[in-house]
Amino acid sequence: MHITDDIRYVGVNDHEIDLFEGQYVVPNGMAYNSYVILDEKTAVMDTVSEHFTQPWLDNIKTELAGRAPDYLIVQHMEPDHSANIGAFMRAYPDARIVASDRAFAMMKNFYGTDYPQRRVVVGEGDTLTLGRHILTFISAAMVHWPEVTVTYDSFDKVLFSADAFGKFGALDVREDWACEARRYYIGIVGKYGVQVQALLKKAAGLAIEKICPLHGPVLTDDLSYYVGLYNTWSSYGVESDGIVIAYTSVYGNTKKAVELLAKRLQEKGCAKVTVNDLARCDMAEAVEDAFRYGKLVLATTTYNGDIFPFMRTFIESLVERNYQNRTVALLENGSWGPIAAKVMRGMFEKSKNIAFAETVVTVRSALSTQSDRQVEELAEELCRKE
Ligand code: FEO
Repeated sequence: MHITDDIRYVGVNDHEIDLFEGQYVVPNGMAYNSYVILDEKTAVMDTVSEHFTQPWLDNIKTELAGRAPDYLIVQHMEPDHSANIGAFMRAYPDARIVASDRAFAMMKNFYGTDYPQRRVVVGEGDTLTLGRHILTFISAAMVHWPEVTVTYDSFDKVLFSADAFGKFGALDVREDWACEARRYYIGIVGKYGVQVQALLKKAAGLAIEKICPLHGPVLTDDLSYYVGLYNTWSSYGVESDGIVIAYTSVYGNTKKAVELLAKRLQEKGCAKVTVNDLARCDMAEAVEDAFRYGKLVLATTTYNGDIFPFMRTFIESLVERNYQNRTVALLENGSWGPIAAKVMRGMFEKSKNIAFAETVVTVRSALSTQSDRQVEELAEELCRKE
């Protein structure tokens, strides 16, 4: 596949993968992207997952059409991109390997060598001239690993963006970009908003016509759309108006309270309402929703003097990703000593700019006249809040 006259796609699609990075379901598979730059000298950008050694080497061979690559550029050492460094270096014994010093340190840890005789260490602002293509290396530390470098090709105005601007899903499946890019971003990169903001600032100073990430499609048209979403996500801004209700229920009574709240909100018509049952939905999708919308209702049971485990996992997933700038409302259930609201509130104590709704719904075993009224009050308060 031609990205430009000189840049060719040599990545692979993975439809056999069970869980990406050991935890994310990827119903439409995954793409591991790799690129070849053809010039007086030739460079290969990153490798692919360990399961695709031969198809990837074959793709490179086809695009090089008899030439040998001069450089392998390693932007990111996570094994979905680095697993075939050894295979490449064996296949092309005259090639040199280009990476940051931190990437070389990781290379030795992962694969037992950092190629001391064949390596080129690059840092912020260093360049590599292939001919008319001059590559500039830009640190993207902690987007989302410390060794990450992105690479700018000033000739074709291409930014090779490593995991930034990536998404779940193989390239031979057509699907909405934002949906799976958001789930990927929030799940994998979401904690590092400050570092993504720093990268966006550096990228703003470059003339970019194409973004070539390590996952997902090459981005070409209307780059401001993708950059705008990345700016919203990495600044923890609200992308869409709406209320998310995330709940767990043991015998269905908390669920009935949630259904009543959703009904009241829908009757008022003040916002789109999304409901996630945390024991049954894809947790990454529920986390994505919490970051996408501005208001979140957490509903759970008191359990073993704490809260129900799926809810604990969910809130931990938010807090560790620096969840902030949101309105949070609490609904608890407890048959003899309800403390779920207090526990949930306490879990956000280090989070920035969380506004809790004044109304807390307490269900004692099952809905009652009193808790029905609290649900109505909460619906009114949520609709009133900006
Ligand atoms: Fe796609 Fe961070 O590896």
